[in-house]
Amino acid sequence: MSLAFLVAVSSVSAQFLEGGPTQPGLPTGCVGSFPNLTQCTIANYYLGDTVDRCAPPAPYPVAGQQVYIKDSTNFCLNLPNPDSIFLFNNYYSWKKLPTIVQAEGFVQSYCMGSYLPPGSKPLPQYGIRSAHVVKNFTVPGQNYYQIHGYMDCDLLGINCTSTAPGRYDDAGQYDDGPFINCGKEPYSGVDASAAANPGMQHYVEMAGNGLFCMRVCEKGNLGPGLPCDLTQDTAGCEKFMKVQFLGEYATGFSYMDLANGVKTTASVFIPPKTSATLSGASAAATTGGGAAGPAGSAGDAAVSPTAVPTAKKSASLQIFNAFVVVLSVAPFFFM
Ligand SMILES: *[C@@H]1O[C@H](CO)[C@@H](O)[C@H](O)[C@H]1NC(C)=O
Ligand SMILES: *[C@@H]1O[C@H](CO)[C@@H](O)[C@H](O)[C@H]1NC(C)=O
Ligand SMILES: *[C@@H]1O[C@H](CO)[C@@H](O)[C@H](O)[C@H]1NC(C)=O
Repeated sequence: MSLAFLVAVSSVSAQFLEGGPTQPGLPTGCVGSFPNLTQCTIANYYLGDTVDRCAPPAPYPVAGQQVYIKDSTNFCLNLPNPDSIFLFNNYYSWKKLPTIVQAEGFVQSYCMGSYLPPGSKPLPQYGIRSAHVVKNFTVPGQNYYQIHGYMDCDLLGINCTSTAPGRYDDAGQYDDGPFINCGKEPYSGVDASAAANPGMQHYVEMAGNGLFCMRVCEKGNLGPGLPCDLTQDTAGCEKFMKVQFLGEYATGFSYMDLANGVKTTASVFIPPKTSATLSGASAAATTGGGAAGPAGSAGDAAVSPTAVPTAKKSASLQIFNAFVVVLSVAPFFFM
């Protein structure tokens, strides 16, 4: 949660200001729903019947903040919203980039793959450099999907500098924890449509220093010890989700269903990091004033079971889609 820092930031620009700017989709004068952290600390993270004056109109989860995990090339993550007035005032206008934690409360979902939930945007191509998905439906009532991997922070417009060695996530996360529990993205959530994650409701996501992890869980799993435990938001991916970022998890795209232990890998072309960063910068420049043009999706990758290597051959035509260069990325207009 990075309390001290966030208190400092919130003094720069409040979530509500009478006559102040309005983030599209929010009530007049609101730029977000970030809870008052002074009150949260005093009230031990339970704000009782406090009403969020900046709540967007229902239904929830709101468009543009819905995530899901289908497999390693079809998923959405929430990331700092480049169109956030708050982030503009506090970071972008100062030629700074927010970290994942600093952008808590100001998120936009970005997806790899062809299906986009309402209001979601395609991930900039090569923004995700690896992804490993696990489907864990082994304990009834505690079903979840999990993803983790590496991302290209430059391409995604995120500051991934750690505040301390090893503190890759800066101790924070995105989740759908309720406003009265001081949740910062309380109107975000999971796309539970047939095209995404039917039956799922909650999510927790951590990222930073080029690493990310996320779980999408069934209803009722936000509590301590459960798969989407909100109290673990300072633990980090390795501790909380028990994931590794080395060895077989250092690269690649894979999917495993714990029910049968079968692992499938997807063939996704990922260029060397430096060139990806360069193409990202020039792509941003091409968009000029920052209008987000129609970006292609990096997720049209072929999926083939590792157990059947020959399947990769027939998939080579689809792999070609992953080579298509996307000239338009999110509006990183300040670069
Ligand atoms: C947050 O709550 C504290 C304590 O109630 C109050 O003094 C402060 O003005 C509040 N800040 C904002 C931005 O509303
Ligand atoms: C990234 O964060 C670090 C640590 O807070 C800060 O020193 C640096 O200026 C930031 N960089 C950008 C581009 O925002
Ligand atoms: C799968 O989920 C269950 C229920 O949360 C958990 O007890 C178990 O450890 C998980 N399995 C793995 C391999 O993570």
